[in-house]
Order: sequence, then C-alpha cells, then structure tokens
Amino acid sequence: MNIIEMDALLKRSLRPGRYIHSVNTMKEAISLAEHYGEDKAAAAVAGLLHDCAKNLKDEETREYCRANGIKLNEIEQRQVFLMHGEVGAILAKEQYGVEDNIILNAIRYHTTGFAKMSPMDKIVFLADYIEPGRTHCEADDVRRLAYADINKALVCAFDNIIKYVIMQNGLLHPFTIEARNKLLLQNKDF
Ligand SMILES: [Fe+2]
Ligand SMILES: [Fe+2]
Repeated sequence: MNIIEMDALLKRSLRPGRYIHSVNTMKEAISLAEHYGEDKAAAAVAGLLHDCAKNLKDEETREYCRANGIKLNEIEQRQVFLMHGEVGAILAKEQYGVEDNIILNAIRYHTTGFAKMSPMDKIVFLADYIEPGRTHCEADDVRRLAYADINKALVCAFDNIIKYVIMQNGLLHPFTIEARNKLLLQNKDF
C-alpha cells in the first residue's frame, strides 16, 4: 500500500479531528526528519499512522492485545488507551502493510516513550506533541527546543506529560520514567 492509499484508509477509520491531527503529525515528522537527517518517507508513514488504533474501543484494544499475545500490566489494564501505540503497530502491519520495524516501533512507542528510543521514535513522539494543532502552552516550550536539541525537547515533553498525569491522579507508565531517566543520564549538561 502506498502512502496515498494509507491516507485514504486512515481517513475512513478515524474521526475528522483525529485525522487532521494525524496529517499534521506526518508533516511535522517530515520536517524533523529533514532537520535531523533521518528518512523522510519513513517519518511520513509513521507520523500519519501513529494514531491508527485510536478509534478502537477499550474492549477491541484488549482483544487485539489478547490475540497477539500482549499481556497488559496493571497500569495498562487500568489505562487501556496507553495501548493504542502497541495496537497501532499491529494495525499498521496487518491493515496498512507496513513491514519496516523502524516505522512500527515509532508507532508502538509514541504513547509511553521507551528507554532505548531510536531517532525515528523520538521524531514521531515529538511530532505528535508539537504539531500545530496542539495549542496548549506546554507544547510551546517543547516546540522551541525541538529543532535545536531533540533530546532536551523530549525531556521537556516527558516532564510535561508526567506533571499532567500526576495532576490527573493517573498512573505513570514505567516506560515514560525509563525514557526520561535514560535521556538525563546520557546528557551531561542537563
Ligand atoms: Fe496517540
Ligand atoms: Fe497523536
């Protein structure tokens, strides 16, 4: 399936607002890939499809996980929406014909982050957070850093996300903590 066909299928399966966010994320991911010398075509597909499982109901998400041998931990059981990255990677492969693991992992980890994020994982995570449709002021801080220092931008995004989850009395996913810790440990100037 080429990206035009992917776009048409995605448009049919998401609500209009979510589809617009997906196209915006694709464009931002292409810009970031261009800026950081990564594969723009892969960034386009990963950005476009990152939320392809977002329309599923919790029970459908659980069923996809069961069928694919993915066990939900306690945090994921309570916050099933966290699994739309994992299930998105499954749908991207099964329904959109994506085989490239660089793309599939970027979709997989866009909700929680991951300790060993690849450049493409970082690009899609950030693109999702800063695309122009994200108008909350916290996105501005990340936006300012995104094209200057991708790792600092990610730490800023994780800080914001962690603070938000705490404010909502939500459960923090360990992958998010691990991803932030890893970035801090790797960079001496934090
Ligand atoms: Fe998402
Ligand atoms: Fe998204």
